[in-house]
This record gives sequence, structure tokens and C-alpha cells, in this order.
Amino acid sequence: MCGIIGFVGREQAAPILLDGLARMEYRGYDSAGIAVRSDTLGLQVRKTKGRLQALSDMVHGGVDLEGALGIGHTRWATHGEPNDVNAHPHVSENGSIALVHNGIIENYMELKEQLLRHGVTFASDTDSEVVAQLLEYHYKECGSMLEAVGRCLRRIEGSYALGIICSDYPNALIAARKDSPLILGFGENGNFIASDVTAVIRHTRDVAYMNDGEIAVVTADSIDVFDSELSPLEVEHHQVDWDVSAAEKGGYPHFMFKEIMEQPEAVRKTVSPRIRDGRVVLDDVRLTADYVRDISRIFIIACGSSYHVGMVSKYNWERLLRRPVQVDLASEFRYSDPLVDRRTLVIVISQSGETLDTMAAMREAKRRGARTLAVVNVVGSSIAREADDVLYTWAGPEIAVATTKAYSTQLVLMDLIGLYLADLLGTVSAEEYAAIVAGVQALPEQMQQVTDRVEDVQYFASRYFNHDSIFFIGRNLDYAMGLEGSLKLKEISYIHSEAYASGELKHGTISLIEPGTLVVALGTHAALFDKAMSNVVEVKARGAEVLAVTTGRFREKMSKTADAVVVVPEAHPILQPSLGVVPLQLFAYYVALHRGCDIDKPRNLAKSVTVE
Ligand code: G6P
Repeated sequence: MCGIIGFVGREQAAPILLDGLARMEYRGYDSAGIAVRSDTLGLQVRKTKGRLQALSDMVHGGVDLEGALGIGHTRWATHGEPNDVNAHPHVSENGSIALVHNGIIENYMELKEQLLRHGVTFASDTDSEVVAQLLEYHYKECGSMLEAVGRCLRRIEGSYALGIICSDYPNALIAARKDSPLILGFGENGNFIASDVTAVIRHTRDVAYMNDGEIAVVTADSIDVFDSELSPLEVEHHQVDWDVSAAEKGGYPHFMFKEIMEQPEAVRKTVSPRIRDGRVVLDDVRLTADYVRDISRIFIIACGSSYHVGMVSKYNWERLLRRPVQVDLASEFRYSDPLVDRRTLVIVISQSGETLDTMAAMREAKRRGARTLAVVNVVGSSIAREADDVLYTWAGPEIAVATTKAYSTQLVLMDLIGLYLADLLGTVSAEEYAAIVAGVQALPEQMQQVTDRVEDVQYFASRYFNHDSIFFIGRNLDYAMGLEGSLKLKEISYIHSEAYASGELKHGTISLIEPGTLVVALGTHAALFDKAMSNVVEVKARGAEVLAVTTGRFREKMSKTADAVVVVPEAHPILQPSLGVVPLQLFAYYVALHRGCDIDKPRNLAKSVTVE
């Protein structure tokens, strides 16, 4: 959701900015723009609605824009429709200041009215333009850009990552952050700001993560960081340890397909350092046995697919820990006056570590005294830094909007955390502990068996891609897994889909089943297979077409009723969703492919949702 890049150095800025924006396309956007400063031409701004390619064509890949200092932006509209004028960068009235902004300025109406009273005229409908105009106002007042930024930030409320250039300052760009991610990149030929590491990784691995309230002054040779009172701060450098190729397609037709195929390796990387001599070792976690025994309840909080991981974990953790586990959508939790106190452990799951609702829910939980443990993929992200403890999923960069490998690594890491806590509580037998550890270790190989046989799913997708409503049914872990299968399908293929707990069918959904309706029946949870089977019979009796997913031992039984059956290897029961979900991801992928959808960048969706 919205991407910022800024560069100042000894090379032409525009091609670097366009390349950086292209690498953040996956975040989701509806318009794009860049501003570059040169001594001869001053500030040159180009922006347009639509794909980045349109912007690139407009400036011939950047060669048209002279200057070694610039900012770029991909916008995901919040205030004001997606059009050329509302696209960033926004320029102040006298044309001296250009800025790009991510986030939301909550008091922009009030500020706008004040500026209007001073005779300022506005070009766009955005909250972001207000910041540009306010900056010009304070700059005229004090004559120092840094001071003007400080004054401006003291007046704005809301969230922001800002990249600012000024025609009077040929050598520097200014950045500021509050509740919206921004990184600093230290390059050989110049320095960077960006919303995420993927935008700069081609140029440098040496980065720093800005904290809330910080302001940075970036020149070709230096980056200075200040607090909100403009006192200088130490900058902590981090080395990014993944490779450029991890964020490139590498011959695959889509990032989503690449990421599905990477799952065995991603799961291996996530679990193998955490199992030593048959024991789960979570070095980074500081939960003591005494603390864990004193926990009265556990919340799992997340959004989207991460929430679906929480749904699986609820079943597994309650079984392993014999403690109440409540899964809440972050957007609901934060306003629900939740029953949370210091005896509550709150697990927060987020791929990006930047989802605003998840972040706000975590802060609310902390405010009420809970201890927080975050399961996050993006290293150095806001949630990772604010949680009391963090465990990283080592999925590597995930580019496709629809998550796959991040989901799988979250799932398996949650299984390990559950097992770890159960061991501290003494609620898991030695035999079961060993069986689960062995099961986790076997997962990458078993997942590989599924990804090695994509043709089966490909074939079924070609049979069923033209349905306009698809139901996923299952019980217990299969139900939780179905939620994810259904979300994947609707996200990228735009087919209406719902996941139902099979036992609930009779209470409503069965009225929607008519001859030819496609039902994806999930029958991998062995303990309830017979129950699940009876629901398959029920929908068949009403004329549904049934595509089933099950394990080898149930293939025969299932084949007697279902029209088509996909078989996955059998795992320890609590780990079964890690295998069952893979054909569901592939099914969504191939259905979307048949329907000609933009798989990696589905309409209206963003990879990381940094607004409410
Ligand atoms: C967006 C993404 C989903 C993701 C959800 C939560 O909706 O498109 O794939 O599951 O946000 O994101 P998070 O980064 O917090 O896991």
C-alpha cells in the first residue's frame, strides 16, 4: 500500500526512482509519480493515474528528467479519487517544495481551512497536499527547511512516512516517519529512503529503520537522523541478508507461483534453526515457565490470512495447552474493550509487520498490561520492534499480494510455539512432543511432494474455473484451512466464495447449493473424517459438484461420493493443514490464470494495509 522511494547521489535519480517503484509495485497502487531536482530546471514533477509503465513511458524510462536528487511514489487512494492530480508528489503553491506521503493526516481538514484563510490555494483533494502547503508556510516563516519540517510535524496528527525535496536545497532530501514504515539506505553512489528494503536492495544491503518521530536529512554522502526536537540521534545500521534474486521472478510466470513453489524451502528455513536435538528452541523468546504457568488466557490477533493462521492455531493450541485461546480480528479486537490484563499472552501475527489494525491492537493489548509476542516476516518492521518478543518467519521477501509462503511459515512457527509452551506447562506427553517434532521436520519434504504434482490441481482448475460461486466446507482444522482456501480464491480470481464449518451447512448455506454448485470438501482431519463425509453426501444429494482434498487413507471412501479427489500426504494431525492448504493455493492460482486475472496484483488489494 503506497510506496515511497527517494535518492540523492552521483547518478541520475529518475531511473533509480522508477526501478525502486517497480520493485514495490506488489504493495498495491493506483497512480504513480516522481519529482527530480536539477540546477538548471529546478523541480520537475511527473505523475499519472494507472500503472507505473505509463509514468515510465512519459519520461522515457527516466532519461528525460535531469537531476541526482528525487523522490517517487506509488499511491493507493484514500483521500481523493485515483487521478493525475491526486497522485504524488504534491508540490507547494509556489512550486518550491515537493513531497511524497504514505499514511493519513487525520486533522487535514482543519489545517486546510487554516491555510485557506491565509490565501493558500490547493490543487488536489488529498490530505497529503496539506503537508506540502503547510511546509511552505512554515518555511517562509523560519527560512530553514529542517526547522519548517519540525514545526509542520508538531501540527499534524495521524500517520506518515514523508519524503521531501526543496528547490532551495540542491543536495538533500528530508524524511520523517510516524506509524508508517520508512527505511534509510546507505549506497556507494548515493543514499536512499524507501518504504521497504526491496526498493533499494539492488543498490545496497546497508540499511537503517527509522523510528516513529524521527526526521532524517539525507545527502549523497551522509544520513543524519534527529528526534522531533531536532536533536541528533545515533543511527543503527542493519545488513539485509537476503539476495536480490529473492525479490525477482527468476523464470516463474508469477511471483505467486514462485512463492508457492518456495514453500518447502521457506518452511525448512523457519523450522530447522529452531529444532535442536529433538527439542524446540526459541532462543529469541524470553517467556519463563513461571510466567507461562500464570497465563490465564491467550489471544491471537491478526488480519487476513494471518488471522486464518490464528484460526488453525486456536484448535492446535487449545488441544496442546489446555488453556483458552481466543482468535480475534485485529480490527475488532482494538475496539472491543477486550478482557486483557497482565495474565494475558497476546500473540500477534503479521507478514509485513506494518498492518495498521494489527499494530493498533497490539498497542491496545500492551496498554492493558498484556505481554505480546509477534510472529512477523519482515525484519525490522514496526510490529517486530514494538512487541515484547518477536519470532521471525524466514519466508524471505513475499511479493505477490496473495500470501502463500508467509502463511505456511507462520503456520509451522505457530505449531512450534504451541509445542514450546505446552512443554513449559507440562501438558504434552514426551511421545506426542517427539511425534510433533518429527512431523515438523518431515513437512518440507512432504510439501515438496505436493508442489511436485501441480498438474493434478491444474487439471481440476481447468474443469472448474468458470463457476461463479464456490463453497469450501470442512470441520475443525479443515474448516480453518478452508477459510484460507476460500480467501485465496476470491482474492485473485474474483469468484464469490465462502468457507463454512460443515456442521453449520444446515443452518443456512445449504439453501444455496443447487445442481452444479462447486463445493470444495476438505477431508484431511482424520478424527472427523466420517462427519465431514456425511456433509459431502448432503451437498451431493442436492446436486453439488464436489472437489475433495483428503489423505491417502481416505481416498477410496471419498472417491465414492466426490467428483474429483486431490490427495495430500498424511502428517501428524496438528500439522495436516500445512499440507492441505497447498493444493488450495494452487487451485486459486490456476483458476485465476484461466480467468486471465492479474494474479500478483489483484484489483483493490494491497500487500500491506497501513490504513484503517
Ligand atoms: C493484506 C494482504 C493479506 C494479508 C493481510 C494481513 O490484506 O493482502 O495477504 O494476509 O493484509 O497482512 P499482514 O502483513 O499483517 O500479515
